[in-house]
Amino acid sequence: MSWVWILVLLLHTLKTGTALIDSDDVITREEQIYLLIGARAACDRSIRSQMALIEGQCVPEWDGIVCWPRGAAGQWVSMACPEYIYDFNHRGRVYRQCDVSGAWEQADALNRTWANYSECTLLSSDYSSHAEVAACWSWFHNVHV
Ligand SMILES: *[C@@H]1O[C@H](CO)[C@@H](O)[C@H](O)[C@H]1NC(C)=O
Ligand SMILES: *[C@@H]1O[C@H](CO)[C@@H](O)[C@H](O)[C@H]1NC(C)=O
Repeated sequence: MSWVWILVLLLHTLKTGTALIDSDDVITREEQIYLLIGARAACDRSIRSQMALIEGQCVPEWDGIVCWPRGAAGQWVSMACPEYIYDFNHRGRVYRQCDVSGAWEQADALNRTWANYSECTLLSSDYSSHAEVAACWSWFHNVHV
């Protein structure tokens, strides 16, 4: 997928106002992407509206799936597995650690911030839709920075 494609999606989303979800309780890959784009836009607005950072705090940021608030140095931060990821276990939580210097913990091998999503993926036996979400997930991770 390319940025052109994302632009088309964005323009379409702007034109129609909101993402449309079929009433048949099945979510397509496109619908899932609409939801993620909406969540990211909301996250960007939220981050812009937050006051200047205090030294030593982890920055609020969008990681491709979850909109993280600022974090206090040396603390774990957790967020509910987001509703807008259809296949997640919505009773689970995602965890991330803000280290003592006020930087989000990195996944060493990947050189990027790391979060523990294992509770979010505990649930479903529907492997095909898991694969779908995983595809969206990795795609967003690849393009969002
Ligand atoms: C890790 O990312 C930082 C900032 O994005 C960059 O400056 C650094 O070179 C990267 N390190 C590796 C090993 O890729
Ligand atoms: C991720 O979270 C789960 C459940 O909360 C925990 O059991 C697991 O040890 C964590 N994984 C890592 C690598 O921290």
